[in-house]
Amino acid sequence: MKRIAVYPGTFDPVTNGHLDLVERGRRLFDRFILAILENRDKRPMFTIPERAAMLREATVGLDNVEVEAFDGLLVHYARRVGAAVIVRGIRAVTDFDYELQMAMMNRRLASSVETLFLVPSEEYSYVSSRLVREIAVLGGDLSGLVPPPVAAALRARAAELEARPR
Ligand code: PNS
Repeated sequence: MKRIAVYPGTFDPVTNGHLDLVERGRRLFDRFILAILENRDKRPMFTIPERAAMLREATVGLDNVEVEAFDGLLVHYARRVGAAVIVRGIRAVTDFDYELQMAMMNRRLASSVETLFLVPSEEYSYVSSRLVREIAVLGGDLSGLVPPPVAAALRARAAELEARPR
Protein backbone atom coordinates (compact mmCIF):
# COMPACT_ATOMS: atom_id res chain seq x y z
CA MET A 1 0.00 0.00 0.00
CA LYS A 2 1.29 3.44 -0.88
CA ARG A 3 1.88 5.92 1.91
CA ILE A 4 0.26 9.15 0.79
CA ALA A 5 0.44 12.50 2.61
CA VAL A 6 -1.20 15.83 1.96
CA TYR A 7 0.63 19.03 2.86
CA PRO A 8 -2.08 21.69 2.67
CA GLY A 9 -1.70 25.44 2.73
CA THR A 10 -2.45 28.75 1.13
CA PHE A 11 1.07 28.99 -0.36
CA ASP A 12 0.62 32.68 -1.26
CA PRO A 13 3.44 32.38 -2.23
CA VAL A 14 5.61 29.34 -1.49
CA THR A 15 8.58 30.20 0.76
CA ASN A 16 11.87 28.46 1.46
CA GLY A 17 10.32 27.39 4.76
CA HIS A 18 7.60 25.47 2.90
CA LEU A 19 10.25 23.92 0.66
CA ASP A 20 12.33 22.85 3.67
CA LEU A 21 9.26 21.04 4.96
CA VAL A 22 8.63 19.44 1.56
CA GLU A 23 12.17 18.02 1.58
CA ARG A 24 11.66 16.57 5.06
CA GLY A 25 8.14 15.28 4.44
CA ARG A 26 8.65 13.72 1.06
CA ARG A 27 11.26 11.31 2.44
CA LEU A 28 8.61 9.76 4.69
CA PHE A 29 5.98 9.05 2.04
CA ASP A 30 5.55 7.45 -1.37
CA ARG A 31 3.40 10.35 -2.60
CA PHE A 32 3.58 13.82 -1.11
CA ILE A 33 0.79 16.08 -2.34
CA LEU A 34 1.02 19.85 -1.94
CA ALA A 35 -2.60 20.95 -1.75
CA ILE A 36 -3.36 24.63 -2.31
CA LEU A 37 -6.54 25.83 -0.66
CA GLU A 38 -8.88 27.80 -2.90
CA ASN A 39 -9.72 30.14 -0.05
CA ARG A 40 -12.63 32.44 -0.80
CA ASP A 41 -12.26 34.42 2.42
CA LYS A 42 -8.73 35.69 1.93
CA ARG A 43 -7.73 38.12 -0.82
CA PRO A 44 -4.61 36.42 -2.16
CA MET A 45 -1.73 38.13 -3.90
CA PHE A 46 -1.45 35.29 -6.45
CA THR A 47 -4.12 33.26 -8.21
CA ILE A 48 -4.33 29.51 -7.75
CA PRO A 49 -2.72 28.81 -11.18
CA GLU A 50 0.08 31.25 -10.35
CA ARG A 51 0.68 29.66 -6.95
CA ALA A 52 0.56 26.17 -8.45
CA ALA A 53 3.06 27.15 -11.17
CA MET A 54 5.47 28.57 -8.58
CA LEU A 55 5.17 25.43 -6.44
CA ARG A 56 5.70 23.17 -9.46
CA GLU A 57 8.75 25.11 -10.55
CA ALA A 58 10.19 25.01 -7.02
CA THR A 59 9.67 21.24 -6.71
CA VAL A 60 10.66 20.18 -10.22
CA GLY A 61 12.70 16.96 -10.12
CA LEU A 62 11.22 15.88 -6.75
CA ASP A 63 9.60 12.83 -8.24
CA ASN A 64 7.16 11.91 -5.45
CA VAL A 65 5.88 15.48 -5.03
CA GLU A 66 2.64 16.60 -6.68
CA VAL A 67 0.84 19.94 -6.68
CA GLU A 68 -2.96 20.23 -6.67
CA ALA A 69 -5.63 22.71 -5.63
CA PHE A 70 -8.58 21.84 -3.41
CA ASP A 71 -11.80 23.39 -2.27
CA GLY A 72 -13.98 22.45 0.69
CA LEU A 73 -12.96 20.47 3.74
CA LEU A 74 -9.38 19.26 3.92
CA VAL A 75 -10.35 15.87 5.36
CA HIS A 76 -12.73 15.25 2.43
CA TYR A 77 -9.92 16.08 0.04
CA ALA A 78 -7.48 13.82 1.98
CA ARG A 79 -9.91 10.91 1.78
CA ARG A 80 -10.54 11.53 -1.92
CA VAL A 81 -6.82 11.24 -2.74
CA GLY A 82 -6.30 8.31 -0.34
CA ALA A 83 -4.05 10.22 2.09
CA ALA A 84 -3.89 8.87 5.64
CA VAL A 85 -1.74 11.78 6.83
CA ILE A 86 -1.96 15.58 6.84
CA VAL A 87 1.43 17.25 7.22
CA ARG A 88 1.71 20.69 8.83
CA GLY A 89 4.70 22.74 9.91
CA ILE A 90 5.23 24.15 13.39
CA ARG A 91 7.72 27.00 13.37
CA ALA A 92 7.34 28.22 16.91
CA VAL A 93 5.10 27.83 19.91
CA THR A 94 2.88 30.58 18.52
CA ASP A 95 1.80 28.24 15.69
CA PHE A 96 0.85 25.54 18.11
CA ASP A 97 -2.59 26.66 19.38
CA TYR A 98 -4.06 27.07 15.92
CA GLU A 99 -2.44 23.90 14.59
CA LEU A 100 -3.61 21.81 17.53
CA GLN A 101 -7.14 23.14 17.16
CA MET A 102 -7.15 22.27 13.46
CA ALA A 103 -5.67 18.82 14.08
CA MET A 104 -8.29 18.05 16.71
CA MET A 105 -11.12 19.29 14.53
CA ASN A 106 -9.85 17.31 11.56
CA ARG A 107 -9.64 14.21 13.76
CA ARG A 108 -13.23 14.74 14.87
CA LEU A 109 -14.29 15.04 11.24
CA ALA A 110 -12.23 12.05 10.06
CA SER A 111 -10.72 9.92 12.81
CA SER A 112 -8.64 7.81 10.41
CA VAL A 113 -6.67 10.80 9.12
CA GLU A 114 -3.63 11.62 11.26
CA THR A 115 -1.92 15.02 11.46
CA LEU A 116 1.87 14.93 11.42
CA PHE A 117 3.75 18.05 12.56
CA LEU A 118 7.17 18.69 11.13
CA VAL A 119 9.63 21.35 12.25
CA PRO A 120 11.49 23.37 9.64
CA SER A 121 15.15 24.25 9.84
CA GLU A 122 15.64 27.02 12.41
CA GLU A 123 16.75 29.47 9.71
CA TYR A 124 13.15 29.40 8.44
CA SER A 125 11.47 29.51 11.84
CA TYR A 126 10.42 33.14 11.30
CA VAL A 127 9.61 32.99 7.57
CA SER A 128 5.97 33.29 6.52
CA SER A 129 4.16 34.07 3.28
CA ARG A 130 2.54 37.07 4.96
CA LEU A 131 5.86 38.66 5.91
CA VAL A 132 7.37 37.84 2.53
CA ARG A 133 4.46 39.63 0.78
CA GLU A 134 4.90 42.62 3.07
CA ILE A 135 8.66 42.78 2.39
CA ALA A 136 7.98 42.63 -1.36
CA VAL A 137 5.43 45.46 -1.22
CA LEU A 138 7.78 47.60 0.85
CA GLY A 139 10.78 46.92 -1.40
CA GLY A 140 12.92 44.77 0.93
CA ASP A 141 15.44 42.07 0.10
CA LEU A 142 13.81 38.69 -0.50
CA SER A 143 16.93 36.64 -1.11
CA GLY A 144 17.12 33.48 0.96
CA LEU A 145 13.44 33.74 1.88
CA VAL A 146 11.87 32.49 -1.36
CA PRO A 147 13.23 30.87 -4.56
CA PRO A 148 14.52 33.46 -7.09
CA PRO A 149 11.57 33.04 -9.54
CA VAL A 150 9.14 33.62 -6.65
CA ALA A 151 11.08 36.74 -5.62
CA ALA A 152 10.78 38.00 -9.22
CA ALA A 153 7.03 37.28 -9.26
CA LEU A 154 6.61 39.06 -5.92
CA ARG A 155 8.47 42.13 -7.10
CA ALA A 156 6.43 42.23 -10.33
CA ARG A 157 3.13 41.89 -8.46
CA ALA A 158 4.17 44.50 -5.91
CA ALA A 159 4.98 46.93 -8.76
CA GLU A 160 1.57 46.23 -10.35
CA LEU A 161 -0.18 46.91 -7.07
CA GLU A 162 1.80 50.12 -6.60
CA ALA A 163 0.85 51.33 -10.10
CA ARG A 164 -2.86 50.56 -9.60
CA PRO A 165 -5.01 53.66 -8.96
CA ARG A 166 -6.33 53.73 -5.39
O1 PNS B 1 -1.29 27.98 4.89
P1 PNS B 1 -2.47 28.11 5.82
O2 PNS B 1 -3.31 29.30 5.41
O3 PNS B 1 -2.06 28.14 7.26
O4 PNS B 1 -3.35 26.78 5.60
C1 PNS B 1 -4.58 26.60 6.25
C2 PNS B 1 -5.32 25.35 5.73
C3 PNS B 1 -5.43 25.35 4.23
C4 PNS B 1 -4.57 24.11 6.17
C5 PNS B 1 -6.73 25.33 6.40
O5 PNS B 1 -7.31 26.60 6.27
C6 PNS B 1 -7.67 24.30 5.82
O6 PNS B 1 -7.44 23.11 5.97
N1 PNS B 1 -8.74 24.74 5.13
C7 PNS B 1 -9.67 23.88 4.46
C8 PNS B 1 -11.06 23.94 5.07
C9 PNS B 1 -11.15 23.04 6.26
O7 PNS B 1 -10.97 21.84 6.19
N2 PNS B 1 -11.47 23.64 7.43
C10 PNS B 1 -11.56 22.96 8.69
C11 PNS B 1 -10.17 22.87 9.31
S1 PNS B 1 -10.26 22.28 10.94
